[in-house]
Amino acid sequence: PDAAPIVVASNRGPVSYRRGEDGSLLAGRGGGGLVSGLSAIGQDAGAVWVCAALGDTDREAARLGGRRLPEADTGGHRVRMLDIDPATFAAAYNGVANSVLWFVHHMLWQTPLEPVFDGAFRAQWEAYEAYNTAFADAIAEEAAEGASVLVQDYHLVLVPGLLRARRPDLRIGHFSHTPWAPPDYYRLLPDDVAGQVLRGILGGDRAGFLTRRWAEAFAASCEVVLPGAEVTREDGVATSVTFEGRTTRLGVHGLGADAEFLRERAHRPDVEERLAALRRQIGPGRRTIVRVDRTELSKNIVRGLLAYRRLLEDHPHWQGEVVHIAFAYPSRQDLAVYRSYMAEVGRVAHEINTTFGTADWTPVALQMEDDFPRSLAAYRLADVALVNPIRDGMNLVAKEVPVVSDHGCALVLSREAGAAAELGEDALMVNPFDVADTARALNAALLMDPAERLERTKRLAAAATALPPARWFVDQLRAL
Ligand code: G6P
Repeated sequence: PDAAPIVVASNRGPVSYRRGEDGSLLAGRGGGGLVSGLSAIGQDAGAVWVCAALGDTDREAARLGGRRLPEADTGGHRVRMLDIDPATFAAAYNGVANSVLWFVHHMLWQTPLEPVFDGAFRAQWEAYEAYNTAFADAIAEEAAEGASVLVQDYHLVLVPGLLRARRPDLRIGHFSHTPWAPPDYYRLLPDDVAGQVLRGILGGDRAGFLTRRWAEAFAASCEVVLPGAEVTREDGVATSVTFEGRTTRLGVHGLGADAEFLRERAHRPDVEERLAALRRQIGPGRRTIVRVDRTELSKNIVRGLLAYRRLLEDHPHWQGEVVHIAFAYPSRQDLAVYRSYMAEVGRVAHEINTTFGTADWTPVALQMEDDFPRSLAAYRLADVALVNPIRDGMNLVAKEVPVVSDHGCALVLSREAGAAAELGEDALMVNPFDVADTARALNAALLMDPAERLERTKRLAAAATALPPARWFVDQLRAL
């Protein structure tokens, strides 16, 4: 009787638990671009969201909640949180999803030591299969006859195929929130794994991507890796992949910023307080270059700092006149390479401060403690926003800044971010590997005439909100 007409599945759900001082379980909001996008599903009556317990506290809440979490905890969503064995979860999430699939699609591997696919990887891959199977089983239980199922991201690529085998009646879509690697890079994966990932997604009726570029890379990977896969192209654009008698349609849905939510949230008292504090910290009359990221290898934070350093060297008149506000929040700290990256970010920021800083000017204001209202405050006051990922599925920061900016903000944007496809005309585009080029763009951004800056910001905001999360979600359902 309780079966759902719509099921959404993602690793991270809309809620995460922590323990209060008295030992009780406290619910908080889950983070990340995917969760922002999916929050819109609250409006679809009857949708069930299947997600994983991410830690011990989540696991405990999942066990207490039984099949569904209390809606008081979930912001009204009907959520089934899967209590997956911790070792299996860790191997699937840290080992395969974040160290292998994330790395291949963001092209993060560096020779000579990476990647190595050995026996340890094989054990992790088995765990990844088990973790995907747990999702497929839960969805098969939740979904009503003929229901629509939207499976999210690189954590769950095997789910469409596994689910098809269990429930041929369902309509199944998969959506990738990451880039897709070009075929020559994608083929670094062991052949059987590369094939299994593609077969998994092709088990669905639709495969969705954030930009045309990633959809094309997926289609090309199918052609190169799967013998007999056929890509249909209309006017040179890949529209579907047919493999072993089944056709999967490709879709491009460029998730946008939620203007209504952001503008309201950015004017609440907690943001105003932080805005005032940031202004005091920066000092009167100074310009600001703002960046806000997870401390994520693909976000390219260190090269961003080096570009700022280069700006101060090449244009010394900016010394004392500009502050670089860099918010680099902890992410995936179970992985050693993320921990050392975080340390490296701190080291480089410190070095810039000791080299250039004076008694009344600290060049880099680095903050590593996650604080969403403070991020919004920084968005509001930024003169320049620096978004320079080496590769990024979309990048919502690039879309959020123009929406909440108080007086217009020049956007320095990597051409390798998915957002570049929509924001390219009014952003200052950079090659993210080219530190000198990025420094030049920062200088041009600081020099931009305020009236032009405001005009560009308005156009950027319009482009950034073209497909707000609620419509992004409904578009995909309709396409299914
Ligand atoms: C990216 C992924 C999302 C993920 C987010 C945060 O945006 O595409 O699926 O939720 O990163 O990563 P985390 O590992 O903390 O969930």
